[in-house]
Amino acid sequence: MNFLDIAKTRFSVRKYTDKKVEAEKLDQILNAAHVAPTAANLQPVRLLVIQQEEGLKKISKAANLHGAPLAILVCADHSKAWKRPFDGKKTTDIDASILTDHMMLEATELGLGSVWICFFKPDIIKEEFQLPDSLEPINILAIGYADEAPADPERHLATRIPLGQLASYEKLD
Ligand SMILES: Cc1cc2nc3c(=O)[nH]c(=O)nc-3n(C[C@H](O)[C@H](O)[C@H](O)COP(=O)(O)O)c2cc1C
Repeated sequence: MNFLDIAKTRFSVRKYTDKKVEAEKLDQILNAAHVAPTAANLQPVRLLVIQQEEGLKKISKAANLHGAPLAILVCADHSKAWKRPFDGKKTTDIDASILTDHMMLEATELGLGSVWICFFKPDIIKEEFQLPDSLEPINILAIGYADEAPADPERHLATRIPLGQLASYEKLD
């Protein structure tokens, strides 16, 4: 599949089979995160891979994984964050989300389903996984084999705003 086909094929999976994600596939997903760009290459990101029963129970206290057998908790490391000097804006959320997107699309290429999760209780995550103060949980990527019919790759014509509304040339319309 070329890139656009992978991007169109991906959809949020909210029902998974019990089948575990193979170690080689997990490695490929983590490698996709590893090559992602970050601001000034500071790499202010840590990943926590959760696939054992105990960890899945812990993370499920904070988020609905929809039965996925694997969750990757993407944390921003504020001790390494790049700050824009003009207004102090930190790019940690952006950096963490680029890694998350790389992993999500790699998972699609490998025939896996996934769902990006921000609806979680950060305090519970911090407590359950004993995160140091410098680490902020930003995203959870739940991954596994979909137990639902694939979404139509052409659905975006109906489910996204028109491209003409999204992008303008030279000046905002
Ligand atoms: C930043 C972000 C946060 C999201 N958080 C959640 C979430 O907490 N729970 C959930 O079920 N889906 C979540 N989603 C999935 C979106 O609802 C979904 O991507 C969107 O509705 C488009 O549907 P599609 O992914 O099937 O194309 C999130 C997606 C993004 C990009």
